[in-house]
Amino acid sequence: MEAVQKVALVTGGSRGIGEAIVKRLAQDGFIVFGTYNNNPDKATAISESLNAEGKSVHFIKMDIASAESVQQGIDEILTKSGRIDVLVNNAGITKDTLLMRMTEQDWDDVLNTNLKGAFLCCKAVARPMMSQRSGRIINISSIVGLRGNAGQVNYSSSKSGMIGLTKSLAQELASRNILVNCIAPGYIETDMTEKLNEDQRKAFSDKIPLKRAAKPEEVAQVVSFFAHSDSSYVTGQVIAVDGGLAM
Ligand SMILES: NC(=O)c1ccc[n+]([C@@H]2O[C@H](COP(=O)([O-])OP(=O)(O)OC[C@H]3O[C@@H](n4cnc5c(N)ncnc54)[C@H](O)[C@@H]3O)[C@@H](O)[C@H]2O)c1
Repeated sequence: MEAVQKVALVTGGSRGIGEAIVKRLAQDGFIVFGTYNNNPDKATAISESLNAEGKSVHFIKMDIASAESVQQGIDEILTKSGRIDVLVNNAGITKDTLLMRMTEQDWDDVLNTNLKGAFLCCKAVARPMMSQRSGRIINISSIVGLRGNAGQVNYSSSKSGMIGLTKSLAQELASRNILVNCIAPGYIETDMTEKLNEDQRKAFSDKIPLKRAAKPEEVAQVVSFFAHSDSSYVTGQVIAVDGGLAM
């Protein structure tokens, strides 16, 4: 009998770390659904080039901060593929400023996208995963969720929240063989960190024991491990992918 091809969903899969995760899971043999929010052309270009290599990659539009949009996206995947084996909660935003300048809107936007978005996606995939009696949820937090960071009270709170979400959900879903783990990336070269100037980049790199930023692919490798059968006895864990920064 032919083995069932597993299905993975990667939020925010059209650039940066999410794009690297989409590519890696496609290489690992998953049918991959990435989500895009506002750049369909980039999403189409990625799926076309991967499909041309014989990989099965599709993009759907989803705003993770909207319960309705999340449910529609999950329903679309279930209609097309009949199952969801892996959810990677990768999509996220920053609106950095010091507390005294941070508006309520800055707080709400970041918490609603990063933390509530992850909650909504977990809730929407939990039912099909529970029926399958298997699943993997991988939350992309951040090193600042472990250590905090001046100028990021909204972002770091959302990322600390994802760690709590991971550990609580890992306990709730373990009996259904659904494993929930978390990755805390450090300084990764993407559009999100492109805003930094040369001095800021050097200051960051100098503090990292490995003395360099990571490539998005180095985060995707750890996602691949959590999505793979090799991690069958690992749940509720947070792995820092940070070049040793948070030891
Ligand atoms: N780059 C880093 O150094 C770094 C470090 C630690 C953690 N992270 C985390 O890794 C993840 C990816 O970061 P990145 O650097 O690739 O960022 P990025 O800004 O390049 O990509 C973020 C993605 O999220 C999507 N997104 C944003 N809001 C959305 C919404 N409401 N609905 C759906 N999609 C939405 C964007 O469209 C984009 O595709 C984020 O959660 C980020 O917080 C990044």
